[in-house]
Amino acid sequence: MSVCAAGLLLMMTVIFCPAVGQTPFSLSVSQDVYQAEQHSNITLTWTFPVSAVSSSDSLVVDIKNVGQMRRVYNYDRKTETGLSPHEHYRGRVLCDPVLITKGRIECVFTDLRLNDTGTYQCIVTVVHRYTDDKTCDLNVTAALDRPAVETSNPESRKRFGLYASLGLFTVVTALLASSFLANLCKF
Ligand SMILES: *[C@@H]1O[C@H](CO)[C@@H](O)[C@H](O)[C@H]1NC(C)=O
Ligand SMILES: *[C@@H]1O[C@H](CO)[C@@H](O)[C@H](O)[C@H]1NC(C)=O
Ligand SMILES: *[C@@H]1O[C@H](CO)[C@@H](O)[C@H](O)[C@H]1NC(C)=O
Repeated sequence: MSVCAAGLLLMMTVIFCPAVGQTPFSLSVSQDVYQAEQHSNITLTWTFPVSAVSSSDSLVVDIKNVGQMRRVYNYDRKTETGLSPHEHYRGRVLCDPVLITKGRIECVFTDLRLNDTGTYQCIVTVVHRYTDDKTCDLNVTAALDRPAVETSNPESRKRFGLYASLGLFTVVTALLASSFLANLCKF
């Protein structure tokens, strides 16, 4: 057994060990950030390998708004129902339970509000076997109905920035000049 063989063995261990410990169950989110306008609808989608779940497994899906700690959606395959969502989301978030049994969590958020903006976490639990979670951000912006206002704002902000830096330059120059003069006068 040479040093080389030992090294090779160590390398193989390092390469293949993580794969051994890896769970075959992982949840994916189709987008990390969802962008939408107020009053529109948007679909948030998570997927998981349904092959890892047997028909006798108890499957639970829970979606919540992390910052506001509000339940958005809950589903338990055993009872075919779930815990009631927070009233802020009740009747506005629709997820198809048939798709969930196929490994696809598709939730339509309707009539979006500005305060729906936040981080949403989906947790899928195959009871006593696996659990995984993935978060995504939803950013709801006001509907743009006056683009003219939009374009004039950055311009004036830029101009303000220019004046501000010119002003700062003048002040700094004046300070430097006066301290220079003050030093000169000491002698
Ligand atoms: C949003 O979804 C609701 C319910 O499915 C529907 O009635 C409405 O027309 C949709 N709105 C838009 C802007 O697509
Ligand atoms: C969210 O906004 C809606 C209107 O857009 C308002 O009715 C509701 O009270 C707000 N909820 C919270 C918790 O701020
Ligand atoms: C939300 O979208 C607006 C407009 O695109 C963007 O300026 C802002 O940075 C976004 N905010 C977050 C938290 O992603």
